[in-house]
Amino acid sequence: MSDLAQTLAQFGQEHLLQFASQLTPAELTSLESQIEAIDFEQLAALTSGKDKTIDWAELARRADPPRAVRLNRPAEESPSEAAIKAGTEAIKAGKVGVILVAGGQGTRLGFDQPKGMFKIGPVSNRTLFEMHCDRLRGVMDRMDVEIPMYVMTSPATDTQTRAYFDANDNCGLPNELLHIFCQGTMPAVDDSAGKILLADVNQIATSPDGHGGLVAALHKQGCFDDAQSRGVEYFFYAQVDNPLAQLCDPELIGHHILAKSQMTTQVVSKRFPMEKVGNVVTIDGKTNIIEYSDLPEDAANQTQPDGSLKFWAGNIAIHVFDRTFLESVVDDAAGLPFHRAHKAVTFVGPDGKTCKPEKPNAIKFERFVFDLLPLAENAIVVEGDPSRVFAPVKNADGAAVDTPAKCKEAILALHHGWLEAAGAKIAPGVSVEIHPLWASCANEVAEKVDSGQEFPTDTFLS
Ligand code: UD1
Repeated sequence: MSDLAQTLAQFGQEHLLQFASQLTPAELTSLESQIEAIDFEQLAALTSGKDKTIDWAELARRADPPRAVRLNRPAEESPSEAAIKAGTEAIKAGKVGVILVAGGQGTRLGFDQPKGMFKIGPVSNRTLFEMHCDRLRGVMDRMDVEIPMYVMTSPATDTQTRAYFDANDNCGLPNELLHIFCQGTMPAVDDSAGKILLADVNQIATSPDGHGGLVAALHKQGCFDDAQSRGVEYFFYAQVDNPLAQLCDPELIGHHILAKSQMTTQVVSKRFPMEKVGNVVTIDGKTNIIEYSDLPEDAANQTQPDGSLKFWAGNIAIHVFDRTFLESVVDDAAGLPFHRAHKAVTFVGPDGKTCKPEKPNAIKFERFVFDLLPLAENAIVVEGDPSRVFAPVKNADGAAVDTPAKCKEAILALHHGWLEAAGAKIAPGVSVEIHPLWASCANEVAEKVDSGQEFPTDTFLS
């Protein structure tokens, strides 16, 4: 028996080679290298439940609301002006880079291309990728600085994402500033016996290893070296699905710098107890995020003496990291806990036929980047105004929340607010969208718009 067959037998995964005799030599070599890449001991610990399983319900009972830089705070406490100044200086000095995670598949959205290619500009029809790149170009233009952007893809989104950026002139970003890198994967296993699923006779069924795979991928693909050689000290991290993310927000970066934080998280006040956002909390003095799916309902419903939610701080997946902190946790990140998701995964059965289950049949394993929070010596939490920073695109139109229609409404509400504050008159039912190179805040709009200026038809100010 070959070494490989022995390993498979040892871990009860012999079925992976069941179609070997039907494969061409090239197909067999490809399958063998996929098998060799699997960490069977790790997988055995995961399928037997002997990994670090975390009792989130118990942690939720011990958790407290986080200490946070709140929106409505006394002026002398963490002043915004000082933070904006510190953040602006760091950006202008070229100390900031951007990480955009775009490895997920838009399953809930019902979009079969990388989510970044989804068109969301209410008038412009720009894609999510374009919205983020335009925002970044706006910051570079105003601050007269080069900012590298590291876009994380997964095997499911990598080829199409690269082709998209190639075909669209990198969405206006200079080639040397755009780094597309691919995250790793984990095998998917069947939910009853923990057997690894075959997606095809010569193909292991895998899924992205979660955005917790970020640190390993940045390390392996030379992004830390690139960032260091450019003098980048801070990474501004955002998800591709939130076009309102204020990439390189000087105030958030400034709070991070002034507090000497290693990992900073922007939060918004939750709209309702079971909202599908991670809950930022403090446990034993450390900042943690309890994912919405892990938070028991009774814990979510708890209130504070003033009637507000105890777990009010919703994770919007916007972080600022010290580069040196991320570099220092490359080994620790490999030990981050895995979270399990019960999903329907297409597989090839013993008869060689493809089976598309309608119900969840498989377990996928993912690591979450925010599980790095308790590893930070100092991690701060900063509240943002949701109307400025959070309008995620998660669900197809028709759902109650986080749909493309709601996201477009939020973008327009922000832009119309700036225009109306400058005295502009927008006719009822008309949409006016603003390109960040044209203006990126109320003050800049006021410089360009005359009081009383009318917008009788849909307009893209660019
Ligand atoms: C996520 C957060 C949640 C937060 C919410 C805010 C997780 C587990 N939860 O929820 O706490 O409140 O966003 O919008 O992230 N991605 C990858 N690779 C992967 C998996 C995901 O790059 O392997 C990217 C996706 O492209 C997406 C983002 O991570 O941009 C979020 O993933 P998703 O699974 O959609 O998380 P949510 O359930 O929306």
